Amino acid sequence: MIQHPAVTLRPRTDADYDALYALAAELETWEQRSPLRPAAMTRKGWEARVAEYDADPNGNLSFVVDVDGEAVGTVSLFDIDGFTATAEVGIALAAPARGRGIGSEAIRQIVEFGFVRANLRRLHLEVIASNAGAIRVYEKAGFVVEGRQREHAWVRGHYEDIVRMGLLRDEWRAALGDR
Ligand SMILES: CC(C)(COP(=O)(O)OP(=O)(O)OC[C@H]1O[C@@H](n2cnc3c(N)ncnc32)[C@H](O)[C@@H]1OP(=O)(O)O)[C@@H](O)C(=O)NCCC(=O)NCCS
Repeated sequence: MIQHPAVTLRPRTDADYDALYALAAELETWEQRSPLRPAAMTRKGWEARVAEYDADPNGNLSFVVDVDGEAVGTVSLFDIDGFTATAEVGIALAAPARGRGIGSEAIRQIVEFGFVRANLRRLHLEVIASNAGAIRVYEKAGFVVEGRQREHAWVRGHYEDIVRMGLLRDEWRAALGDR
């Protein structure tokens, strides 16, 4: 377990399923969280996706973001590539948990986990261009913009760029003293 005064990253338990399903099926932030076509995701369909995700041979790492014993979201390392020592980062918090610094702390912890515990060398992610809060959180953790996929996302009636960001372990280590 990774501890912080308020935010803990911990494994998923059966007791978390209701909260995590509600977050996964939430339509309001669907396009922020997922490149997939918005859908009426059933509990059964979601559980099948979770099982598939957990069975990934490269070992996806999905932590529950816990605040005071409550599952408020997930933060993950997925598409882990053992050859290049890279992984993609994903995060989603439930609405009441947003805007309180929890995402910033969860990203700080998953980055540290990726570099220090999982021996990854580079982390990357993608975010739709209008998701300014998420971009700010990633920049605070040291991620830099590496490129854009122009009009690559369809977001509630219009096309948007996808911003691609990355962080190298060396630059993260070098910047630790500055933060
Ligand atoms: C994106 C998300 C993980 C961020 O976590 P959070 O806990 O809400 O973010 P925090 O409160 O830690 O920090 C948000 C930062 O963005 C800033 N911010 C918020 N809205 C902003 C905006 N419209 N423009 C610029 N900055 C903004 C805040 O001021 C804060 O920066 P600060 O710490 O320097 O003041 C969370 O809101 C979430 O899960 N959203 C829905 C799903 C999602 O978008 N996931 C990301 C997929 S790429």
